[in-house]
Amino acid sequence: MKIPLAGVIGCPVGHSRSPVLHGTWLQQHRIAGHYVPLHVEAADLVGVLHTMPRMGFVGANVTIPHKEAVLALADDVSETALRIGAANTLTFGPDGRLHADNTDAYGFIANLRQNAPSWDAASGPALVLGAGGAARAIIVALQDAGVQEIYLTNRTAARAEGLAQEFGVTALPWADRARRLPELSCLINTTSLGMAGQAALDLDLTALPATALVTDIVYTPLETPLLAQARAQGCMAVDGLGMLLHQAVPGFERWFGTRPEVTDALRAAVLAA
Ligand code: ATR
Repeated sequence: MKIPLAGVIGCPVGHSRSPVLHGTWLQQHRIAGHYVPLHVEAADLVGVLHTMPRMGFVGANVTIPHKEAVLALADDVSETALRIGAANTLTFGPDGRLHADNTDAYGFIANLRQNAPSWDAASGPALVLGAGGAARAIIVALQDAGVQEIYLTNRTAARAEGLAQEFGVTALPWADRARRLPELSCLINTTSLGMAGQAALDLDLTALPATALVTDIVYTPLETPLLAQARAQGCMAVDGLGMLLHQAVPGFERWFGTRPEVTDALRAAVLAA
């Protein structure tokens, strides 16, 4: 019997936590499979994708800079990946077809469901800070979860306006990012502000209702200054590591046939790596 292989394709790929994450699950479930990091330059992407199934790969995660390029190379692209405009999960079908999906939106919502189960998506507007690739996936997640009103703000206004038009949400000037706080049910940071070595996000949350949920895609540190501020005033605060862990679940299940769980032990293993 062939040992199933999966991996993460990126450039650079050395920083990826996916090998530890999937490796932990493979061990836990005693599955005879392997998950490896694959450094792939843009010029080699087509050839690598062509060769992988013949080498025993059943699927792969995709990271920077290939998340958009794989859409054009796949035989089937999920509706979610099309809306986000990027894929992070590839499956090589037994029929030889390459299927591309994006599980970031799923991962975002699954993290909130696990860590803030009382949060009701329909209870009020959400504000998304930032307008990069992560913001695209999170807007799709919020729309699918039933958030009625989504505000979006970004340092570079043109990027927020472009996304607002594409997704039918409302762009706000970056300078006015505090204005809507009193009405929010959810605040999401998708910028790199608050990451270790970077400036903190300059936003006073005092006007945010205590019922609001604050979450961050930054997970180094786990407790960003934004999350610490939210927690200190009694809001729900959910760190970004869970999104990374949950987005990996559908791929693992498709490739290895077992649905894995996101546990505290898994968090600890990924953090220790
Ligand atoms: P990703 O695809 O991971 O979301 P990205 O496309 O590089 O990454 O986006 C990073 C986000 O962080 C952007 O919204 C960026 O704002 P700009 O579009 O103005 O660049 C935001 N960002 C990064 N550094 C920032 C800073 N110092 N102040 C405000 N926003 C910042």
